[in-house]
Amino acid sequence: MAIMGALEAFVMNLAIIGTGYVGLTTGTCFAEVGHNVVCVDNNRDKVQALLDGKMPIYEPELEDLISSNVSAGRLAFTTDLAEAVATCDIIFIAVPTPPHDDGSVDLSYIEAVSHDIADALRPEYGYRVIVDKSTVPVSTGRKVYEVIARYSRADLDVDVVSNPEFLREGSAVQDLMHPDRVVIGTNSQRAMDLMKRVYQPFSAPIVEVDLASAELIKHAANSFLALKISYINAVSRVCEKSGADVELVAKGIGMDKRISRHFLNAGLGYGGSCFPKDVKGFINISRQLGAPLHLLEEVENINATQLEHFVNRIKEQLWVLRNKRIAVWGIAFKQNTDDVRESVAVKIIRRLAEEGALVTAYDPKAAETGAKALEGCPVEICDDMYECVRGAEVLVVATEWKQFANANLVRVRELMKLPIIFDGRNVIHGENAVHAGFEYHSVGRKSLYPANK
Ligand code: NAD
Ligand code: UGA
Repeated sequence: MAIMGALEAFVMNLAIIGTGYVGLTTGTCFAEVGHNVVCVDNNRDKVQALLDGKMPIYEPELEDLISSNVSAGRLAFTTDLAEAVATCDIIFIAVPTPPHDDGSVDLSYIEAVSHDIADALRPEYGYRVIVDKSTVPVSTGRKVYEVIARYSRADLDVDVVSNPEFLREGSAVQDLMHPDRVVIGTNSQRAMDLMKRVYQPFSAPIVEVDLASAELIKHAANSFLALKISYINAVSRVCEKSGADVELVAKGIGMDKRISRHFLNAGLGYGGSCFPKDVKGFINISRQLGAPLHLLEEVENINATQLEHFVNRIKEQLWVLRNKRIAVWGIAFKQNTDDVRESVAVKIIRRLAEEGALVTAYDPKAAETGAKALEGCPVEICDDMYECVRGAEVLVVATEWKQFANANLVRVRELMKLPIIFDGRNVIHGENAVHAGFEYHSVGRKSLYPANK
């Protein structure tokens, strides 16, 4: 009974507007710790699929958590935003914030939801907290408040909070259940106290800041991680020229706790729906504010040229790519996801096909999403990683899935026409590849050849 009492003390009614990667996983994890959650989306097909028990995305652990929380009556899905606003104390916004062509952030989804919330609010509902979870440029929260104040029908008791999300796709559930920190930005103590109640069951350190600082923390954090990746990729090119090994360099610098080994994996560059757009967004807002972050322009430049550098290295070996059979392992933008948004693997497949190569591709989870992203590109998507390499002259590893690292290389060698691996994610054990008869090329390390070559 004492435990029930303690539990009830923090349970709240939460609405999440936008049931995508962030909204669906966040809503489910809030339900898992005991809150009552309704996830709202304006995509009727997506909501119907969720009501039918079908998953719109692949994310480890998520399906079981959704089903147990729906059964427990703590998690619901709807298209009815007004009903969610009527019944929930806190309303989270988790809609897309894609880039415009000039790099600025398209805030029209945020504006539309703010407008919808304003329409739905009624004075008799009492105090409401509107929380922005989407990644936005600094000062967006203030504009959300202004839209709500302008379009709502009466004087309302509302506060706006920024609570940026730091989950990674592929480990979203674990990241949400055990966050390094929770950032809450608001200028209202009342809203802060309610938000701390929401996060009480997570026992994570809470960073209490003002609205603008919270918004900036998110852009600055993602840009810093992207900067680390571009830094190690630039270092990898120096390694290639000098005979050093980027993995050893990353280990040596990463053991300094001030630097850390995380996000120092050299590869084909960062992709995904967030780093590319958030670096652009941060560059854009910093320029608008008159404090331009030129440093991040170089981060982008290194990222953009990393793929071309890798393709040139393949060309150095194969000379002409036209009519060469190239197998690509990996289509998703990273391991453990089916997400192909801004995937570097998709870009390399397109690039090789443009050169006239005959490309086959395989991904454990992203075959369907990959087929859509690669529409019009002459690539054969295979449903088996070994079938994908049959008759190939080169194998390119483009995504860091574990099963590629653990592949049976002797079998791969038997199936391929020529024994050449280009490992764009440094996941294959080079010595094992050479043992199986391959010449092995990777990022930022000397190429390895069988003894008889
Ligand atoms: P998403 O595209 O997967 O999901 C967004 C959802 O919002 C979609 O289901 C869409 O139908 C819905 N939506 C759009 N307009 C709506 C409206 N007016 N009313 C109701 N629903 C609406 O996007 P995402 O990857 O979840 O990203 C959402 C935000 O979170 C972005 O700002 C992103 O930068 C940020 N973010 C993403 C991640 C990630 O790993 N994907 C991590 C942290 C932060
Ligand atoms: C990233 C951040 O890690 C999250 O904290 C953040 O919440 C999220 O963006 C977001 O704002 O959306 P995510 O994009 O899901 O998460 O995946 P990451 O694991 O960060 O990988 C991003 C890209 O960087 C991938 O293409 C990956 O292959 C690449 N990467 C990552 C490297 O090339 N090297 C590394 O060392 C790490």
